[in-house]
Amino acid sequence: MNPFVEEIIEKAASATGIEDDSLRALLSTPPEEDMGDYALPCFTLAKTLRKNPAQIATDVAAQLKDMLSDRIDVVEAAGAYVNFKLNRTAFIQHTLNDIDVKGNSYGSNGQGKGKIFAIDYSAPNLAKPFGIQHLRSTAIGNSIYRIHKFLGWNCVGINYYGDYGANFGQLLAAYSLWADPEKVKVAPVAELSDLYVRFNEEMKKNSELREESRDRLVRLSAGDQEMLSLWKYFVTEGRKEAERIYQILDVEFEDYLGESHFANQLDQTINFFGNHCLVEESDGALIIRIGEEMPPCMLRTSAGTSTYHSRDLAALRYRWKRYAFDKMVYVTDVRQQLHFRQLFASLQRAGVDWVNRCVHAPFGLLSFKGEAMGTRKGNVLLLEEVLDRAIELAKNIIQEKNPDLLDKESVARQVGIGAVIFADVNNRRTRDVSFSLEEVLNFDGETGPYLQYTHARFCSIIKKSRKPLDRIGNVSRLGEQAEMRVARQLAEFPYQVDLAAAENEPSYITTYLLDLATAANKMYNELQILVPDNLELAEARVHLVDCVRSVLQTGLELIGMKAPEEM
Ligand code: ARG
Repeated sequence: MNPFVEEIIEKAASATGIEDDSLRALLSTPPEEDMGDYALPCFTLAKTLRKNPAQIATDVAAQLKDMLSDRIDVVEAAGAYVNFKLNRTAFIQHTLNDIDVKGNSYGSNGQGKGKIFAIDYSAPNLAKPFGIQHLRSTAIGNSIYRIHKFLGWNCVGINYYGDYGANFGQLLAAYSLWADPEKVKVAPVAELSDLYVRFNEEMKKNSELREESRDRLVRLSAGDQEMLSLWKYFVTEGRKEAERIYQILDVEFEDYLGESHFANQLDQTINFFGNHCLVEESDGALIIRIGEEMPPCMLRTSAGTSTYHSRDLAALRYRWKRYAFDKMVYVTDVRQQLHFRQLFASLQRAGVDWVNRCVHAPFGLLSFKGEAMGTRKGNVLLLEEVLDRAIELAKNIIQEKNPDLLDKESVARQVGIGAVIFADVNNRRTRDVSFSLEEVLNFDGETGPYLQYTHARFCSIIKKSRKPLDRIGNVSRLGEQAEMRVARQLAEFPYQVDLAAAENEPSYITTYLLDLATAANKMYNELQILVPDNLELAEARVHLVDCVRSVLQTGLELIGMKAPEEM
């Protein structure tokens, strides 16, 4: 922890008897700047301390007054708050020095050293076109992965892609009924997704088609050679397509074992739970009862096939054996909450203690505000079309703002794709998200491009500073309110990264980056950075700006975005 913050917390803890972590979570910024740099609101302490909040604030301030080191200049009660004014010069100096020493790893507390982090995310269903609804799992999951990696965890990204079940029955049936194999060979992804969509539409009118698809699935499960080789072909093409999209988004996985791989492990799964006397028969199916508040978990259908539950149970037991993870996160939409509760509860009933290391990190649903974003395939909006449209819009904006930019094409890609990723991640995970491309590409809004633009602006100041930057520059020159605001934000970064990992919540980082950029832009508007007649001060300010640049870059990377130096 930052020693200034540490001192506030430690002393407040000894004055109140409240533990450090809960005080740290309360610590905030005073509503008005001249009140101080940090504020400790006492409202929530009232219950524990059995005093009214204003009284607590007065008492704490009085006690702390005599205990302070020279890090803190003033401590004062104001209503229900205790406000702290820091020794600004010392604080700024410490913060910048910390960033200099740690370099690109500034913000990481190294918590994951020697530990294994597994994360199951993205997992598209390969029979269907890669639609926009898979953006959330991919973007949020990738950011959680990057955050853990940055914190030193050994990370295993797992893509449990859907290559099994009803969708494949439908695709097999559609192919047998209508496909022109020559055409499919030429453009497999487009043709197969058309077939899949057509089948689903016609199935609404013609219920025999449902039978047809079931029949294909039974033949597939029974090992029918023709079905099997078609299925393999579909899966191969679907994977190629997914990997192409991952390349666009800059996402990688270490483990690609899809659902079908675990369909064959049904017997082991039943035996495992059977050995704990947990398996019951119910109407021909095999189930595990979990308790009053949840419906049972089904292991095998009455038709004898595996279920989403049993495949996931097999996969999780495999992952434990293979990776012995210290933490394992599943990223899916909120509709699967019950599924994961059942999964974990079944293992708990079997006495498995490592299941405590597993969490489900659910997210809300994504929609777009009314605009035409691209052609719809059935009810699926293609992810790539949305990205292409975002890139096109970004290109127009860049053309207007900076027509002389050299590498427009590649910057537009970074900005367009970044804008969509940012908009997706910049919300509490569990909230539903709805956005328009116009909004998310607004360079002045709370957007990804705004952050990238701020980063590029500071890069250009640094380039303009005549002398090659002396990072040790005499920062004791700094101490203005505007500079303090920025330093205060810089010092906050490690704490926000830590929270983001603890709660698997990348939006802590996006919110943080917006605050940092706002403080830094405010400084840029209020102060001259490259002061012409004061080289020492100019250097010190450039130094501060360079720290902002560096933290913005790290933060953008944690979100899965690029940080172009010019735009
Ligand atoms: N393929 C599933 C879907 O698209 C998500 C799989 C999530 N992971 C898991 N282990 N169940 O809904």
